[in-house]
Amino acid sequence: MTQGRFANQTAIVTGAARGIGLGIARRLASEGARVIAWDINFDQAGSKDPEGIVIESRIVDVTDSGAIQAGIDDVISRFGRLDIFVNNAGVTGTQATVQDYQLEEWNRVLTLDLTAVFLCCRACIPPMRDQGYGRIVNIASIAGKQPTPGIAAYSAAKSGVIGFTRSMARELAGSGVLANCVAPAMAATELIDALSPTFVEESRKKIPLGRFVTVEEIASVAAFAASPECSFTTGFTFDASGGRADF
Ligand SMILES: NC(=O)c1ccc[n+]([C@@H]2O[C@H](COP(=O)([O-])OP(=O)(O)OC[C@H]3O[C@@H](n4cnc5c(N)ncnc54)[C@H](O)[C@@H]3O)[C@@H](O)[C@H]2O)c1
Repeated sequence: MTQGRFANQTAIVTGAARGIGLGIARRLASEGARVIAWDINFDQAGSKDPEGIVIESRIVDVTDSGAIQAGIDDVISRFGRLDIFVNNAGVTGTQATVQDYQLEEWNRVLTLDLTAVFLCCRACIPPMRDQGYGRIVNIASIAGKQPTPGIAAYSAAKSGVIGFTRSMARELAGSGVLANCVAPAMAATELIDALSPTFVEESRKKIPLGRFVTVEEIASVAAFAASPECSFTTGFTFDASGGRADF
């Protein structure tokens, strides 16, 4: 690992009070980034990191465009730049077949898992373009690439994130701002509490490497996509699926 890979860089990670977002925030901060964690609920966040990693916490609801803009303005006014934006906040939504799926739940999942990614990207692009450098990392899912019966809304949103990122990356080509996705298989976070034990076990069985991906493994892939070393890849979806996705 290159120490200080993110020295003098500023990063925002959404949904970073726990789980994968916290793992990514910790990884970026451990390599020198100034990290601002956005979330709507920091109740479970540790008060002091045992390894002395410093992460700033800010209450920002990523479905609220006003709050997003205020959060970005605050970062630019205090630090003068925004180098990395990780769109991580998400929900699986209720597990049900399409014929039984409630419109209200569909809208909740699509709003957080797809529309919020658009809102955050729209807001972070201008300062990144102005400084001629930026890395946007959108956390998609294997569910956006492979059939996942029972969570079609989530699957649609994550496919949408992949398609959105491909188009946005092409718009940004030549600006110094690169945008990529990471598509993990299932990880043992609180997100999967909404899913039945049978669904979770069936998902594990579909992973050729035979286990869930760890938060640290996802953070490692995301950190590469967020780094200057990722210099010739944009609009791509990095895999963290243990062999489930083979293209
Ligand atoms: N855990 C998995 O198996 C898995 C697999 C593939 C992809 N992912 C994706 O990884 C991301 C993180 O998942 P996780 O497992 O860490 O989930 P998690 O439920 O542990 O954490 C999600 C975080 O997002 C926050 N959040 C929810 N609504 C928000 C809002 N409106 N504004 C800001 N923050 C909000 C929550 O408070 C929570 O801290 C999600 O996008 C998820 O779809 C997860």
